[in-house]
Amino acid sequence: MASPLLLDPAQPDPDFGDLLAARPHLSMHALDGLTVEEVPLARIAAAVGTPAWVYSAGALRRRARALTGALKSAGLRGSVHYAVKANTNLAVLRVLAGEGLGADVVSEGELRAARAAGIPASEIVFSGVGKTERELRLALGEDIAQINVESAEEVEMLSALAASLGRVARIGLRVNPDVDAKTHAKITTGRSENKFGVAFEDAPALYARMAALPGLRPVGIAMHIGSQITAGMAAYRAAYARMAELATALLARGLPVEQLDCGGGLGIPYRDEPAPTPEALAGAIAATLGPLNLPVMLEPGRWIAGPPGLLLASVVLQKQGTGRRFLVLDAAMNDLVRPAMYDAWHGILPVSPRDFAAATAPADVVGPVCETGDTFARGRALPSLQPGALVAFLDAGAYGAVMSSTYNMRPLAAEVLVDGARFAVVRDRQTHDAILAGQRLPGWLTEGTQP
Ligand code: LLP
Repeated sequence: MASPLLLDPAQPDPDFGDLLAARPHLSMHALDGLTVEEVPLARIAAAVGTPAWVYSAGALRRRARALTGALKSAGLRGSVHYAVKANTNLAVLRVLAGEGLGADVVSEGELRAARAAGIPASEIVFSGVGKTERELRLALGEDIAQINVESAEEVEMLSALAASLGRVARIGLRVNPDVDAKTHAKITTGRSENKFGVAFEDAPALYARMAALPGLRPVGIAMHIGSQITAGMAAYRAAYARMAELATALLARGLPVEQLDCGGGLGIPYRDEPAPTPEALAGAIAATLGPLNLPVMLEPGRWIAGPPGLLLASVVLQKQGTGRRFLVLDAAMNDLVRPAMYDAWHGILPVSPRDFAAATAPADVVGPVCETGDTFARGRALPSLQPGALVAFLDAGAYGAVMSSTYNMRPLAAEVLVDGARFAVVRDRQTHDAILAGQRLPGWLTEGTQP
């Protein structure tokens, strides 16, 4: 199999009941239909319209606790820095901040979002292969917990900048362990040919340089080997074994190593593929890095934010094509790009109790965007659905709304947070005026002409 994201088409898909049973924040009710916590999705669609992203606060909290609990149970001193890139909605960040999670950010925008959601600067780590001087200035000004540097060039630049500002940057060195995380090629990051981190062999000398330069205080090593890792713990173990070896060597040279950033990447079962648990990850960390007795950090995004979110869409029409049935939705690749971009599989559930129980037949589920790639699923077992019928794309809380665009001049969809029996719009649907805002016609195109 080329990639675990490209699932074996010979395997039958899980049925609606299986998909539901694996997602405890979702339930099907005879009258209300598909419900998130205690809020029927039909109610949200009536109030907010579609397409809309819906997030379960309860599921976010449970998953945050599962991760922190797993570290603790494995006897590790650890902290979880949620990878903000997965879902930057301020309400989502606020829920996670309430669980004591810190943030892993990769841009000025993410740093600002984390701070706006109430995550203290002392709980924020800045990662990324191309931080600009402006971003580093902001990070130093905010005095965030740690900046993970990824190259010798960045080390020199940050040292000069911090020294000129009279600051001392706490920095981690991101090391590329050259292990194969066996995930989709577009989201693997820990191979030597990937752009991320510095080569394992170059790390000791660079770390020593970091300790010698003004304006810098090296605090540890960071590794992140890829995303949607479902192929067991072997790649993680290999990476962390290299991390242990490096940390031991640095400590033996009298260099300071205070903490170890173990990255993110924990995969989730989008279909029914086996996926590692937080306990397995914590166990792999304890087995490899435990003897060093240093605090560890995790940077998970998808594992926390993916399953709690869904994309709610309406059927525009059902179209009979040549030998196939198309379900054309009001959501498209500009909303949820993962199927078009990574051939990702997302569960699709009908929302009405009648549709949920109806006989199914294969359908191609597509959006209205003018590209064949605007296809969410092919040959998916779904009932006949009338215009206006609602469907939910599962596990869309991570890398969903954040990867949306306005392609085809389609407004960004609304976002909704459900918390028990309450729900609130946590980002308004973008208006058409807002899409056009900021565009200007230069004077030479308009002078003396009638529109
Ligand atoms: N830390 C670093 C340095 C990262 O680059 C990433 C993700 C994470 C943590 C969080 O990884 P996670 O736990 O979410 O796997 N758009 C793709 C995923 C891109 C992941 C990029 N980096 C997708 O939709 O599958």
